[in-house]
Amino acid sequence: MATRDATGGFDPSGIDEEAWKDLKLQLEATIPNYDKVNKLMTFGQDKRWRRNVRNHATEGMNVLEVGCGPGSFSEDLVGLEVTCLDPSALMLKFAKERVDKARKSRGESPANYVEAIAENIPLPDDTFDMVFCLFSFRDFKDKKQGLTEIFRVLKPGGQLVICDAGKANWLHGFFGAIWMATIVQWMARFVTKDKNHPWKGLARTYTHYGSNGYYRKMMREVGYNDVQGRLLLPFGMASRFRGRKPQ
Ligand SMILES: C[S@@+](CC[C@H](N)C(=O)[O-])C[C@H]1O[C@@H](n2cnc3c(N)ncnc32)[C@H](O)[C@@H]1O
Repeated sequence: MATRDATGGFDPSGIDEEAWKDLKLQLEATIPNYDKVNKLMTFGQDKRWRRNVRNHATEGMNVLEVGCGPGSFSEDLVGLEVTCLDPSALMLKFAKERVDKARKSRGESPANYVEAIAENIPLPDDTFDMVFCLFSFRDFKDKKQGLTEIFRVLKPGGQLVICDAGKANWLHGFFGAIWMATIVQWMARFVTKDKNHPWKGLARTYTHYGSNGYYRKMMREVGYNDVQGRLLLPFGMASRFRGRKPQ
């Protein structure tokens, strides 16, 4: 494979270590404004997308969220055994406060928290009925390795559901990159009141992210069955991928 030097450490298959370390700091810097900026830049659609993904689980399932961030998705997983995984201790601290508070209010036991990357999950084989990945897949250092590790910890017949930035093809990606580089930057500046806000760097993960077809192929190569990956309508700003570990 060619080096990623020309693109500052990014390509659709992954991110170099140095660029990823910078990205992790930028992601941590988003925490105070994360939900507000997400809501604005997606016209409130992020809530619908999270519900769409959440509805794949049925009561009593043992589920894992990879790249849980500050807990925006996991807090609303009801009636499930939940494990939140993230490489950032700071993200996990915020997630734990938020997710366990919501679980306690519903009379549920606390979730489990694991500080790790998707590419090296310190959990046993065949553990989870479902794995969710929301807006974290594009941050994986090595996407194929992350998909392989998720495959390993899924039970036979278990399902992976990914929701991330929409990129149907290069043309759609071209307009998406313009959106990320302009409107999203203005919105982030408006919310944070800081011209050096962390969304500046985050636009790069979209620019170098692959198309739906690219990741569908990767999922099949790892061994997932029933692979699907398509834009979520009506705006096509996000894509949802699904795949199952064979029985
Ligand atoms: C944008 S946040 C997503 C938060 C949350 N999932 C949501 O629904 O909003 C991306 C998260 O992915 C995490 N992340 C980055 N690289 C990762 C990797 N290689 N494996 C797992 N998580 C990763 C980051 O630390 C960050 O917390």
